[in-house]
Order: sequence, then structure tokens, then C-alpha cells
Amino acid sequence: MSQDKLELIRNAGPSVLPSLLLCDFGDLKTELARLEDAGTQVLHLDVMDGHFVPNLTYGMPIVEGIRRHSDLPMDVHLMISDPLRYAQPMVDAGADLLTFHVEAVEDAGEVAREIRSMGAAVGVALNPDTDLSALDRCLDEVDMVLVMSVNAGFGGQAFNPVALAKLAALKQSHPDLLLEIDGGINLRTIGAARAAGCDLFVVGSAIFKQDDYAAAIAALDAEIAGGVS
Ligand code: DX5
Ligand code: ZN
Repeated sequence: MSQDKLELIRNAGPSVLPSLLLCDFGDLKTELARLEDAGTQVLHLDVMDGHFVPNLTYGMPIVEGIRRHSDLPMDVHLMISDPLRYAQPMVDAGADLLTFHVEAVEDAGEVAREIRSMGAAVGVALNPDTDLSALDRCLDEVDMVLVMSVNAGFGGQAFNPVALAKLAALKQSHPDLLLEIDGGINLRTIGAARAAGCDLFVVGSAIFKQDDYAAAIAALDAEIAGGVS
């Protein structure tokens, strides 16, 4: 099941993934319809626990609620201290790709294997200050690497270009690995991320602060097309 969804996610790239963090949670059904009408192929869900990051968002009930109103693959970004504690409930709620932070765990390879065994695809994320070498033990166990271009926790932060060098290095060392970037992605930064080899571009403010989501995503897509990889 998740392998099919992983193929959908892979085949979506290069693609913009709206981040459900700055959306209207009071009217999620309409937000989902607007995003689908705008051509969204994959949703990015930001789960924060108020412990790993100093912000608190949502958990399984929202993931499950989104699943009931959308068939789109769900890429769930776990910004939580104990990803394995909530991994199975997240898969049961409908998560297709579960991404945990390497900074949160002791043995990232083991965490990745356990998540895979639950039937989900697996990603590992790293914050701007975390060196790529932190991924050495798990790169062969994951489907995707999420390179953060802001410190995980809040939307609307400024893009940190350290992410570009990490993407380029990963693209060179692991050409088949799916690469995602998250944080401060907008019309000015998305082309450089594409040029560095990125496949999936998580976008919050640059979509949800616009009135016309379709126009915002189309403009971002045009910049991706211009940022030759
Ligand atoms: C930040 C989240 C992001 C966030 C991006 O911790 O992981 O997904 O929503 O928002 P922008 O695009 O506004 O930086
Ligand atoms: Zn995110």
C-alpha cells in the first residue's frame, strides 16, 4: 500500500508540497479542495510535540481527518522527540511517508527499519546545524532525506542556504535517493534548490499567504522548471 503511494510521491517530483501548518484549520475540507484544485499531488503534514520543537500542532485525529477528505499521499513530518512511539498510530491514521528527525533519535538506522516494518515509506530529516555525517548510519535504510532550510518548528522563517550544499552532496553520493527541502521556500529560493538536485519542495507561507493557491503553485512550478537540476 505505502509502496504504491511512495511511487506516486516519487513520480510527483519535481513538485511543490503544500505544508499544512499555516492553513485554515477551521475549514480543512475547503483547504484540501482548494489544494487539490490547484494541482497538488502530495500533502506535507507538520506534526510538532512542543518538546522536540518549541511549538505544538496536531496529531493522529487531524491526519485521520485529512485522510477521510483526500486520497492524496500524505508526507508526515514528525518534529517529535519519540517518533517510534507515534509511528504506528500515524500509519494507522493514514500516513504514507513518515519522516523523523535524526537529532531526535539514537539509532536512526533502527528507527528507519522499524517504521518500514509498519508498512510506511520512511524519510529522515536534518536541521541546518546538523552535519550530513549524522545520516551515515541510516542513508541505506530510508526512501527520502528531508533537508531543512530553517530550524524545524515554525513557518515563515528565512531560508538558510546551507541546505543547498547538503542537497548537492546527497545528490552526488546517492543519486537515486528522494530529496526534499523544507523552510523558506518561495519564488526566490526554489530554483536554487532544484538546481541543487531537490525533488520535493515543501511550501507554507508562499502558498497560504496568497489568495490564489493555484497561481502561487504555478509560479513556483515555473521557477522549478527554470532551476535545471
Ligand atoms: C517548519 C515546517 C515547515 C513549514 C514551512 O518547521 O516543517 O513545513 O510549514 O513553512 P514556510 O514555507 O513558511 O517556511
Ligand atoms: Zn515540514
